[in-house]
Amino acid sequence: MSAFIQITDTHIVPEGELAYNRSDTAAALSEAISTVNGILPRLDPVDCAIITGDLTDYGTPAEYERLKGIMADLNLPYLAIPGNHDARDAMRAAFADQNWMPEAGPIQWSRDFGDFTVIGLDTLVEGSHHGTLCDEGLAFLDRILGSLNGHPVVVATHHPWMHSGVIAMDNNNLQNGGALLDRLEAYGGPARMISGHVHRTLTTQIGKVTCQIAPAPCHAVHLSHQTASVNSLIMEPGGVTLWNWQTAPQPCLVSNVIPVGTFKGPWPFYG
Ligand SMILES: [Fe+2]
Ligand SMILES: [Fe+2]
Repeated sequence: MSAFIQITDTHIVPEGELAYNRSDTAAALSEAISTVNGILPRLDPVDCAIITGDLTDYGTPAEYERLKGIMADLNLPYLAIPGNHDARDAMRAAFADQNWMPEAGPIQWSRDFGDFTVIGLDTLVEGSHHGTLCDEGLAFLDRILGSLNGHPVVVATHHPWMHSGVIAMDNNNLQNGGALLDRLEAYGGPARMISGHVHRTLTTQIGKVTCQIAPAPCHAVHLSHQTASVNSLIMEPGGVTLWNWQTAPQPCLVSNVIPVGTFKGPWPFYG
């Protein structure tokens, strides 16, 4: 059985700063790592973590170094794709020694987990908050999908296509997400899409494709569907997402959103 942990939107800022002057993102990531390290011994084997974008807040080399320093405590290797708060060149330089990092072009990769394959795609449009899949990314997707022969596939992007109802976030979604979903709809096997960006937990189904947005370890985006609302952050509990393969009642990939922190218990229900 295979599994990975999705961590998203870590938004690491320079030492001594808070994101948006309020959110201690470095402390939140450290707590998330402690949470993950604490549960790993109780889980079926987990292969790695995947960070689905917004690793840093400004995309500076110093922020990537700080992120790597914090992530070094995680008892798992990790891969990453960029988000709108990242900078492609700085991120590439920071992870140049990793075998998943391409030497040029979009930061995209695929990883075979045995039971399923994850394709990480780069939706960053430098200088913008919305996301787009470039022609190179779509060609990469076509090539990998064409090689998988209907094997279960998960496509990871920072920007989701589904709408959350939070208008400011939806305006900055994956603008050509239909091009991705059309391909997954036409794919000859189980397919799903996982994303970040919205800092909340949301799930929907588009055609046959299940789409899920994962929560961040740090701040959340305030939930409001009102057009007049100012897009705001709120310190709701952070989370990471365990994705693990289950074989019964039928083979499928199961998501489990895990709150970050320490909590009372566990206690046996009886005795
Ligand atoms: Fe974010
Ligand atoms: Fe984002």
